Parts: sequence; C-alpha cells; structure tokens
Amino acid sequence: MEEKVKKIIKEAEEKIALIKEVIEINELKSRFLGKKSELFSLTALFRTLDSEKKKELGILINKTKAKIEALIEVKREEILARIMAEKLAKESLDVTLPGVMFNSGSKHLLTKVIEDFEDFFIGLGYEIKDGPEVESDYYNFEMLNLDKDHPARNMQDTFYVDVNQLLRTHTSPVQVRTMEKAEGKPIQIICPGKVYRRDEDDQYHSHQFMQIEGLVIGEGINMTHLKGTLLAITKHFFGEDKEIRLRPSYFPFTEPSVEVDVFDGEGYVELLGAGMVHPKVLQMSGYNPEVVTGFAFGIGLERLVMIKYGLDDIRHLYTNDLRFLNQFKGVK
Ligand code: DAH
Repeated sequence: MEEKVKKIIKEAEEKIALIKEVIEINELKSRFLGKKSELFSLTALFRTLDSEKKKELGILINKTKAKIEALIEVKREEILARIMAEKLAKESLDVTLPGVMFNSGSKHLLTKVIEDFEDFFIGLGYEIKDGPEVESDYYNFEMLNLDKDHPARNMQDTFYVDVNQLLRTHTSPVQVRTMEKAEGKPIQIICPGKVYRRDEDDQYHSHQFMQIEGLVIGEGINMTHLKGTLLAITKHFFGEDKEIRLRPSYFPFTEPSVEVDVFDGEGYVELLGAGMVHPKVLQMSGYNPEVVTGFAFGIGLERLVMIKYGLDDIRHLYTNDLRFLNQFKGVK
C-alpha cells in the first residue's frame, strides 16, 4: 500500500511540475483527487479490511490527499506570481511623463457675490427668502401699491404669460409674500433672485438680471437703521473707506424713498433704491402702520458687480466666454 501511494505522489509531482497555466490545475485536481482517481479507488478496499486497518488506510489516503493538494497550491501560487511579474514587466509606468490637465470649473462671479451678500446678511441676523419668477400681477404690482393703471408701471414693463401672470420685474413681491405669511410678526430678510424687464439689451441693460431685495419690519424701525445697514453693506462690498449719499427719490411702495449713491473717489455713482415701507403696503399685508414701521431696499446686482470689477458691458456676465469667466476664478 505504502508503495502504491508513493507512486501516486511521485506521478503527481511530475505532472504538477509540468503545468504552466492556471486552467490546467483543475484537470490535475480531478485526475489525482477526483472520484475516478487512483487514490480514490483505494477507498474500495475499506470493505475488505478490519477496523484497525481501515483506520490506517483512511489516514494514509487523507495524508496523501493533503500532500497533493499542497503541491498543487504551491504550483498555483507560482503560476500567479509569474503572470503578475510578466504583466508588471509589460506595463511599466513612466512617472516622469507629464500628467493630463483637467479643467476645473468655478462658481460664476454673480453666484459668488450673491453668496457673499447672503453670508453678510445672515451675520446681521437676516433670513434668506425666495419666491416665484413667474409672478402674479397682484404680488408684483398691486400689493406694492402699483394699481393697474399706475403710471410707475411704465418703468417696469415685462413679459406676460397672461393678463394676470408675468415674469417678475423686481424681487419686491417676495416682501409681500413674506409679510403675508408672517402675520404681523417682525421680519428681517433678503431675497436674491432673477428679475425681468422688457428692455432692449445693450451695454448696461439686460432683459434678465439679478436683484437682492431687503426688508426689515418691526416696532421703532426708522431711516437711521436703513442708512446704517446700507453703509455697512457698502463698506463690506466696496471697502471700509467708502461713504454713501442718500438722495430723495420715488417708489410707490416706499415713503420716503431714496436713491443710494457711493462715492468712488471721483464722484457719486448710483447704487440702489430704498426707503421706508409705505404705510399702505404694510396695511395691505396685515401690519398696523400705526404700530410697526419698516425699511426696504432693492439692489441691482450686476450694477454693483460692474462698478466693483470695472466691467464695461453687462452682457459679459451672461455670455459665458471663458476668457472673461477665468479672470474671476480667484475671486472669493
Ligand atoms: N423694486 C425696485 C426696482 O426694481 C427697487 C427697490 C427700491 C426695492 C426701493 C425696494 C425699495 O424694496 O424699497 O426698481
């Protein structure tokens, strides 16, 4: 028996030494360890043996099996190592080759400015609100004290979806929507967003542009709060050395109304419109103007950006020319 087993092991060793591919391993396994193998056929002898001998033979078969399995495993490792070595030799990597440059995008200048404004106002305790761009005549005009035949509507002609629905001409309707929801409680919000006008596009006009609306309502709010806020945002955006000037103006939704200019070193440049919320606007949205007051402002964002970065044409902000956009990648 011992002899026979030795022969099987020797034969297995010889065959295993010859194989070169992983797929040959399975063949070898079935040949030396499978049901039809010589080793397995020895189990037929069990029937003829007493239990002591049976045990001995069982141990011998198992040991032989383990030995052949181990030999095959060593061979498998050897083949895999060889394949890996060949692969590595073929796929050598030259780390000195220049890499592939990826173009990384960045936020648009207007987005960055809006986010900067949002951070600033959140720091002052404001909330950020938004509202629909397709707005009703009611919120865009009527609730802001611009009746159907109000002459000031002329300055804000827009695109109509139907007689009562239009593309909002300013972010001011978000004021009204917020006031209605607040049910008489104090408010401190800004609303950035897109607005539309039926303007001819040119260097300074675009039929679509951005505004940031501000609204603060509460007891004892007065013009000094408005001026302080506008001065703070001007200094934040344009620099600590900047001063502002308020000029009397007219908006149907504020009384008094002002136009705000910034001194740019040579002269005053117009920045934005603002004022104390008109008592009628407060009243229509559920506030008692005898008890609370409020201020509001509307900033045309492109205008501010053009002044600060010295842009000569508003259309640069919308035509997505990379030569333009890349100049502002570094702006925080
Ligand atoms: N809605 C005005 C416009 O688009 C800007 C504006 C002016 C908004 C005064 C205000 C404000 O809230 O108080 O021209």
